[in-house]
Amino acid sequence: MNETACIVLAAGDGKRMRSDKPKVLMNVLFEPMLGWVLDSVEEINPDEICVVVGNGEEQVRAYLETRGRLCSVVRQTERKGTGHAVMQAENVLRNSKSVLVLCGDAPFIDAGTINAALKIHNEGHCGVTVIAAVPDDPFGYGRIVRDTNGDLLRIVEQKDADENQRSIGEINSGAYWFDSAALLEALPMLMNDNAAGEYYLTDAVSVIRKSGRRAAVCTAENKYIVLGANSRADLTVLNNYAREKIINELMLEGVEFPCTDGIIIGKNVEIGRDTVILPNTVIRGKCRIGCGCEIGPNSLLEDTTAGDGVILNNVQSYQSVVESGAHIGPFSQLRSGSHIGRNVKIGDFVEIKNSNIGEKTSAAHLTYIGDSDVGRGVNFGCGCVTANYDGIHKFRTKIGDDAFIGCNTNLIAPVEIGDNAATGAGSTITENVPSNALAVERAGTRIIDDWEMNKKRPRK
Ligand code: UD1
Ligand code: CA
Repeated sequence: MNETACIVLAAGDGKRMRSDKPKVLMNVLFEPMLGWVLDSVEEINPDEICVVVGNGEEQVRAYLETRGRLCSVVRQTERKGTGHAVMQAENVLRNSKSVLVLCGDAPFIDAGTINAALKIHNEGHCGVTVIAAVPDDPFGYGRIVRDTNGDLLRIVEQKDADENQRSIGEINSGAYWFDSAALLEALPMLMNDNAAGEYYLTDAVSVIRKSGRRAAVCTAENKYIVLGANSRADLTVLNNYAREKIINELMLEGVEFPCTDGIIIGKNVEIGRDTVILPNTVIRGKCRIGCGCEIGPNSLLEDTTAGDGVILNNVQSYQSVVESGAHIGPFSQLRSGSHIGRNVKIGDFVEIKNSNIGEKTSAAHLTYIGDSDVGRGVNFGCGCVTANYDGIHKFRTKIGDDAFIGCNTNLIAPVEIGDNAATGAGSTITENVPSNALAVERAGTRIIDDWEMNKKRPRK
């Protein structure tokens, strides 16, 4: 028997989104709404998590696979209401003492609120504890009707409410703690004789009260916990709220934003103090940026770690690590698997892919370094290319410490350049170069006097 379980209701299609994805997979700051909810759930760590899905089951399952923690999935084949949806997870109720029910499309429910409600729920020995909120506009939500003791009497849906009930500002967030046994007993008693013709989970409140158990309310301080999205416009509202919240939190931690225009920072991003973020910069996925960096303008970082004092100016970086003191940009790209050492300089129109670049190495202009292991203090002249692909296979290039790669060198992998070795400008290197040697692989100049072609060209 589990102490706690969680059921996330996620069977809505979200027709108004006009998307091929189910609604709970619509993104807020690049993360599916369901992911936001599960992040909060995982913080309180229930013994079991179960997601109730509808259409788009495969897509939801595929998303859940990308997450670390296992969730069970049950299918609600017909959308008959929130009570019916919970019923599909009957086994979860049978195997738990208390169950948390959440909506998969209300991304801002937080662990603090969930824990506060659990405390009220346990201390009051309640059959159900509803998380409520007081939004700016209660329209559309179920209203909280309290008894004279301040306990929850029942929840009345917008469609079923009379004028008096509609004037109530306190609403049901759609998040609840239930005594699992009490809910299991109540569910078969739900009726669908209401304005929507649905089995309302909210009706379980009155049933549980009638059985003699207490129904309590936990009113959340944050009115945004109820916010959900039914349309693309709603999603933009959620994005704007989350964007500002994250930027404000980062400011409190000492991050500098001279202007927040075009800056979007995801929820799994850490940034150190005195780092400056400049306009039109998107930082998403799992990123960790150190102190005293300057990121942007016009940069996109995804799953990137940067040390302290790093400059990323007009940089695109994916799944890469940049050590302290590196200066990158403008107009540089770090593709997946790049590890840039301390104090490295990467300049304009340089692309690095799946490579290790040793400290103090410099590739200042127009260079491609792919599948390479580059030592310390190496200098790449302008226009160097590691030719890592023969059309079928990829090969690595190895360059020793303090090597000097002349302008316009092609390094045809697999190839190794020794420590302190050099290549002549314009060379196409196909053989390993020993340490301390210079390799020149280009034809000498031939001068052809009195060339025919020039005679034929009309003179101006
Ligand atoms: C529900 C509550 C309402 C509350 C509001 C908060 C009921 C009857 N009403 O209303 O009191 O104020 O949430 O947002 O519960 N779902 C399913 N299967 C279904 C129906 C819904 O999985 O058959 C899921 C939806 O995907 C959604 C959640 O349950 O994640 C809530 O359903 P929704 O239809 O949005 O309920 P509301 O009418 O908003
Ligand atoms: Ca809703």
